[in-house]
Amino acid sequence: MKRLLGLFAVAAVIFGLDSTSINLEKFPDDFIFGTASSAYQTEGAWNADGKGENIWDHFVHKFPEKIADGRNGDITCDSYHKYKKDVVLLKKLGVNFYRFSLSWTRILPTGFPHRINQAGIDYYNNLINELLANGIEPIVTIYHWDLPLELQKLGGITNSLFADWFEDFSRVVFENFGDRVKFWLTINEPRLICVFGHSTGVFAPGIQSGGIGEYLCNYNVIKAHARSYHLYHKSFRPTQKGRIGLVIDCQWYEPATNSTEDIEAAERKLQFDCGFYGHPVFSKKGDYPQVVKDFVAERSEIEGFPSTRLVLFTQQEIEYIRGTSDFVALNHYTTYYAANDKTITPFTEHPSSAKDSRVHIWQDEDWPSGIFPEFRTVPWGFRKLLKWLKDNYDDPDIYVTENGFSDDNKNLHDRGRVNYTTLYLSALLDAIYKDGVKVKGYAAWSFLDYFEWASGYTIGFGLHQVNFTDPNRPRLPKDSVKTYTSIIKNRKLTPID
Ligand code: NOJ
Repeated sequence: MKRLLGLFAVAAVIFGLDSTSINLEKFPDDFIFGTASSAYQTEGAWNADGKGENIWDHFVHKFPEKIADGRNGDITCDSYHKYKKDVVLLKKLGVNFYRFSLSWTRILPTGFPHRINQAGIDYYNNLINELLANGIEPIVTIYHWDLPLELQKLGGITNSLFADWFEDFSRVVFENFGDRVKFWLTINEPRLICVFGHSTGVFAPGIQSGGIGEYLCNYNVIKAHARSYHLYHKSFRPTQKGRIGLVIDCQWYEPATNSTEDIEAAERKLQFDCGFYGHPVFSKKGDYPQVVKDFVAERSEIEGFPSTRLVLFTQQEIEYIRGTSDFVALNHYTTYYAANDKTITPFTEHPSSAKDSRVHIWQDEDWPSGIFPEFRTVPWGFRKLLKWLKDNYDDPDIYVTENGFSDDNKNLHDRGRVNYTTLYLSALLDAIYKDGVKVKGYAAWSFLDYFEWASGYTIGFGLHQVNFTDPNRPRLPKDSVKTYTSIIKNRKLTPID
């Protein structure tokens, strides 16, 4: 028995579950707590009340084999019809804010602003008003991956007019909701849009154009974000007085050894993932990170391209994009080890950002994971990342707009999520109090179990379980609801027992 307890203690320390290491300081007074979702993942009502088709509607209907369980988001949590019940649950959680996204085709069925669907405007007005009536601030993501199909037919994000289309959509939403929404997020995780949507093609629109379409996507998506920011800043901020920014996803990459090569490789991987999108917007200098420009140029030459595959910003664009975010909005889940990849892949017809970066990454299998094997619990990586953002992006205000743990959707006793949330929030407190990082808010991803893109319903990130076989889609709180509610109420963590 003694031996068993001893083993447990060793395991607890390795996994970072040692309760004595939990930071028990209070969250700062201005720190806000919330939870998050996105339109395609939770709303359902895919063709209700005049909504147009988007790329995810199309993708899941046309290629069900690309989704782990062959299912789709047609109904999912049905939040379109159940938003009032959702707000009751949010109120019970005690959150200060709720982050959700707007379905572009619910508002503009063709993607263009010549025809506004009043039912879509009404739905979001109702949701926003219901939240405000319950003392919950709406934090609104303008674009979370569900591009209008009509725009995709014209090339979607890779069309050079994408920034115009996104600006037009942004104008409609600022005009309709900006009197009450004071916290805007332009685009969610451009990296996933470009890598999964335009390189590996595992996400809609399913384009496989690594290192080419992928980089055109990077360029257009960042420009579109900047257009939306400038529009808000010039034409709406003076009267609406809100804030607006970009959401990037960054994981932490820990050098595998102390060698200069591996230290540089870890930094390079951070720059390829996080800096690719973050550097043009948040850094003082603007533009893509120099190391990204150098490595892409080098490989482009090996591959016989006459110039770099990167779509470079002009000096004017660099200036226009730089500083277009009032804060850093960060989605973060996990950590990897990184080592320099010494083998230079010879000529290939299939370039990609992964080959360009020349970094080998992996995880320690002893790090606890949920059902999504890669999303392992590594809180110390979170703390290091927050410090990296502070150092690289001029000490910004940081809002963690997503952070969460995956389970199989079947169990209300989500011990893994309770541990994950406590440990990550503890690391966040360490970042605030020990490293001086200005972290201002945290959103637990996610509010409900939902449609998890290519994984369908095989994975749940929710604080609440949803019964997807019941037409009423009942929601049940998991154990993590109790933990998160008490953290918000006491503004303090409780040691893990
Ligand atoms: C990031 C995305 O924004 C969200 O839509 C997704 O569900 C989570 N990561 C988990 O994979």
